[in-house]
Order: sequence, then structure tokens, then C-alpha cells
Amino acid sequence: MEIKEAKIFQDYLNGVITGSETETSKKLFKDARSFYENSDCDLSDDTVMYEVYSYSQGDPKQTGNLNWGLTVMKPVTVNQECNITRGHFHEDLNCAEIYFCLHGEGLLLFMDENDHCYAEKMKTGTVHHIDGHLAHRLVNTGDEELRVGACWPTTAGHDYARIEKNPFKVRIFKENGNIVVKERHS
Ligand code: PA5
Ligand code: NI
Repeated sequence: MEIKEAKIFQDYLNGVITGSETETSKKLFKDARSFYENSDCDLSDDTVMYEVYSYSQGDPKQTGNLNWGLTVMKPVTVNQECNITRGHFHEDLNCAEIYFCLHGEGLLLFMDENDHCYAEKMKTGTVHHIDGHLAHRLVNTGDEELRVGACWPTTAGHDYARIEKNPFKVRIFKENGNIVVKERHS
């Protein structure tokens, strides 16, 4: 019997996912400006806002295959607004996802199909089930990196257009060290 080395490695609490088959991407401020209420600030265009690592095997179109991922969100604010991911619905609304917080403090922001928003608090060790019918976005409310693992079907897809057309109705700010939720009622 052949005993093989694992293909990927994750230093769960302090590191990222490594391995030759790991895909990585960086979201720079210049590509994230539109996420914020007011992106007119002195952050440089090349500031890394978050990094995404992912790993999967097999045909991504095959039902049942999985992605394993990690998002590392930097502790930066944009005109006092906390760092956020772009946010998305899944293209296949039947596909759920699991998030689990490995480091830091944050909020997992949800929006349902009636635009109702709510959030779950994240801290090291929290596990979050994301129903496939909910839009989801990470918010780093802490002073350290927010590191969140994820597992989701490769067939889920990311529907960004839907959230760009109809954005989340809440924004999360940090004002004098306090987290402030601002809701838009329109
Ligand atoms: O699939 C997911 O939900 C995550 O891996 C996200 O893609 C990741 O957190 C980055 O968020 P977004 O894709 O909304 O930029
Ligand atoms: Ni998702």
C-alpha cells in the first residue's frame, strides 16, 4: 500500500492554506472601492483588503464536489467603515456553505431574499451555517486579522451581480472603538 503525503496543509490558527494545488487571490483596495459607502480616503490602491485561499479536487461541475477555503481579512477601515468582503448569493440557491472562524472578531452579515439583514457574531471557534438562499458577507470588526475557513459545494457559484444590483441594507462602522450599525430603509 502506498502512503501519500497530504496535498494541502493548513496551519489552522496562525497560517494559511498551502500546497501546490491551492488557489490564492488578493482583493486590493482599488478593486474593492465600490463595496464601501465612501471610498474617498488615503488608503493606497494597492492595499490588500483580503486574501482568499481555496482548494478542490475533481470536476467542479460535478454535483457533490467540495471547495475548502480560507479568507483572511485585514484590520483596516475605510472612512470608519469596517473591512468587508464583496458579498454574494450563490448561483445555485440550493447550495449551503459552512464558515468557521479561526482568528479575530467579526460579523457574518446575511441578507435574505426579502432584503432582511441580520448578523452572527464571529470569534475564534464559532461555526456558521449559511443557507443557500441567503446573501453573505464578512465584516472584520476587530483590531486583528479576521481568518475564516469555509467549505461549500463546487457547484454553488458566486452571484455578485445580484448583490451589486440590490446591496446589503446595513453597513458596519467603527467609531471611537465602538461598532455602529447603520441601516438603510429604502
Ligand atoms: O465562497 C465563499 O463564500 C467565500 O470563500 C468567499 O468567496 C470569500 O469569503 C470572499 O468573499 P467574496 O467572494 O464575497 O468576495
Ligand atoms: Ni459563499
